[in-house]
Amino acid sequence: MISIKDLERKDVEYILDEASKLENIAQSKEVSDELKGKILGLMFFEPSTRTKMSFETSMKRLNGECIGFENSGSSSVSKGESIADTAKMFEGYCDALVIRHEYEGVSKFISDIVNIPVINAGDGAGQHPTQTLLDLYTIKKEIGEIDNLNIALIGDLKFGRTVHSLSNALGLFKNIKIYLVSPPELRMPQEILIDLNDTNVEYEEVDNIESIIDKVDVLYVTRIQKERFGDIDDYLKIKGAYIVNKKLLKGKDVIVMHPLPRIDEIDTDVDNTKYNKYFTQAANAVPVRMAILKTLIKNNPK
Ligand code: NCD
Repeated sequence: MISIKDLERKDVEYILDEASKLENIAQSKEVSDELKGKILGLMFFEPSTRTKMSFETSMKRLNGECIGFENSGSSSVSKGESIADTAKMFEGYCDALVIRHEYEGVSKFISDIVNIPVINAGDGAGQHPTQTLLDLYTIKKEIGEIDNLNIALIGDLKFGRTVHSLSNALGLFKNIKIYLVSPPELRMPQEILIDLNDTNVEYEEVDNIESIIDKVDVLYVTRIQKERFGDIDDYLKIKGAYIVNKKLLKGKDVIVMHPLPRIDEIDTDVDNTKYNKYFTQAANAVPVRMAILKTLIKNNPK
């Protein structure tokens, strides 16, 4: 699972259906031996809270196990071992491999050299397909369907891999309008717009949330990706450009999503309102990643 672009609508629907069947196990109301004896490898070269923990939780809920590292400093990569050699070791020890790296294309590269399923858990400003599946799962659960949706993608559309994957995925659905809300410096990359032009998705680039808030079902807010800026001054100029707060949302018929972590782009005064779906979204990572692991590991036995 390298790019959401490799999936068709039926694949997405399959994972979302599987995820809903796994809800009871995800919530610890039932136990499962589905992945008993299987081991998931975690290669995390970039920081992660939700993605790593939810992969671990998903594996454990299915009675499988995890090994791996959460920064290259604690692996032999810090001694100069290549990523390729490290991945080959994981191939010998695991049934599937999850990788997060700061460079685009690293998961694809590794998937070409190992014979176990590889899951891209974020490659630089590239893709984050499993996040997108849990985003779609959340939308479906909260709104009922993914077709006929007006969605605002807000914040760092240039470097945010979650909005890149999500835009591509929305291309699989019907009657979608995307409002791309960002400062001019952080517009959606041309290559994603070109992808969208090949679909039926309508999109519009706008500068502020106020102009579109009455038109959308979902506000998908993202953090400015500080670590991907070459010059910290460029980051400081843009920081705090968009803030979603309770006042802005009052009386609106929207849900607020965020892949998290948030910095200051959603005020904490939204946390205890009906608009807040970002914590539910983070919890939905478990059934969705369980469905992904079950599908990939069971269909690709070693
Ligand atoms: C995102 C990521 O790593 O791309 N986090 C996540 O996986 N939930 C979003 C981000 O870091 O801003």
